[in-house]
Amino acid sequence: MQEELLSNLKMHEDLNAKEILNIMKRIGRIDDDSVSSSVFIELLSHKIPKVRLEAVKNLGKFKDDVVIDALVRHYYREENSNVKRECISSLGRQRSEKLISFFITTLEYKDPKIVLQAIRALLVFKNHEEVREALIKVMDHPNEMIQEVLNIELNPAPKRSRHNHVSVDERLKNVVVNGDVLNILSGIEEESFHLTFTSPPYYNARDYSFYSSYKEYLDFLRKVFIEVHRLTKNGRFVIVNTSPVIVSRFSRKHSSKRYPIPFDLHNIMVDIGWEFIDDIIWKKPEYSVKNRVGGFMQHRKPLGYKPNSTTEYLMVYRKKSRDLLDWNIKQYDSETVEKSKVTGDFDTTNVWEVDPKFDKGHSAIFPEELCRKVIEYYSYVGDLVFDPFAGSGTLGKVAYKYKRNFFLTEINKEYFETKGFKKIPTSIAITLAPIYPLGISFVIDKAKIASNTDNKIPGFLLVILIPSYNKNS
Ligand SMILES: C[S@@+](CC[C@H](N)C(=O)[O-])C[C@H]1O[C@@H](n2cnc3c(N)ncnc32)[C@H](O)[C@@H]1O
Repeated sequence: MQEELLSNLKMHEDLNAKEILNIMKRIGRIDDDSVSSSVFIELLSHKIPKVRLEAVKNLGKFKDDVVIDALVRHYYREENSNVKRECISSLGRQRSEKLISFFITTLEYKDPKIVLQAIRALLVFKNHEEVREALIKVMDHPNEMIQEVLNIELNPAPKRSRHNHVSVDERLKNVVVNGDVLNILSGIEEESFHLTFTSPPYYNARDYSFYSSYKEYLDFLRKVFIEVHRLTKNGRFVIVNTSPVIVSRFSRKHSSKRYPIPFDLHNIMVDIGWEFIDDIIWKKPEYSVKNRVGGFMQHRKPLGYKPNSTTEYLMVYRKKSRDLLDWNIKQYDSETVEKSKVTGDFDTTNVWEVDPKFDKGHSAIFPEELCRKVIEYYSYVGDLVFDPFAGSGTLGKVAYKYKRNFFLTEINKEYFETKGFKKIPTSIAITLAPIYPLGISFVIDKAKIASNTDNKIPGFLLVILIPSYNKNS
């Protein structure tokens, strides 16, 4: 079969590019030393870059000096950057020390994908002093991918955290703390949470959020997500549900203002050290959202078009880590992995159609279905799931149902006091943190006792702190 393909290829002058490509893609491994590379060398002069690319790939299957020579010469002649990159890739496969100085010169090329390929080829010889020196010189390359690769390859890995990845601090299990999230979190030990899913307060869109400026609002969120970053376990996720909000116009002489919260928050998240992973769109039915398109429906004048907003974002970030997700998964025993598997239907796209939930007690409650998806896709059974802006605590209820533990904070205690934790053995800690900022360490100690007792008593147990109980104050 290979023989037949190669003999057909020799007639390439009578074939069109599609036919040549078709043959070259089917050739497979070349193990037989008697096969000649000459037809592929000839095809390096073909006018179509895709054909040259496939010829270079095939030349990478040969190990001889004629091929090395042809590829090096072709690299300098070639103008298409993909084919150029493939030349380095094929030469890299030769693993020949003779090519070290050639690869070092290609590090100066301006296209980052070519530099990355040259780095890859050179890393095989990273113990050679001249290679190490050349790679160190490129470490301050402006391209972020090059910086990251060299940082990982040349610098020793930072020590793994001393925290057990799977375990959960008993004192944090199934606790709701009433207070300002920033005061509460400062008392908790780093790397405590496996997953955070939250919907931050809107900027001036609902009656519970008052900030003197948009900047103050974003600064507040920055502080919260810096703390969440500290408290998140190595390589785990935070998922933030936001959408742009409109602040209504001052008078008919002014226009309303739309604040692009997800987009501004994104830059803050990346700056903090979160790695952007995915943007999931939560799509709601049109009848469930505010009608903005009514005016346009009547007047139909361009520029006055305002579509109904049926979507919100679920922005997914991972705490930056040198460990790949496989490392995270391997920390769990096989029984936990088995119990946590997502069975049956699941979302195959980043558009999740979920009906919103309307609630008399809270104006912006998570639908349980949304929490279920996030919990099932991004956590394991037994994990600790956190919501800093818990509202009526939907995330906690769903986490419990799916055999995860929860830790929630909420500034307004009416929200969760009135709502459905009745069937969950929960500790509700009412902190005096805003007045006594160190109070939380005590609240958590106390909550442990509370949750132990509470396991036998369905319903709430309130832990009320008074200043004299606080060891730290
Ligand atoms: C969008 S709602 C979250 C609703 C929640 N996802 C649910 O399912 O009910 C935002 C919540 O953040 C709370 N909040 C605002 N500022 C806070 C702060 N500094 N600390 C803790 N909670 C806060 C608000 O009281 C509000 O309940």
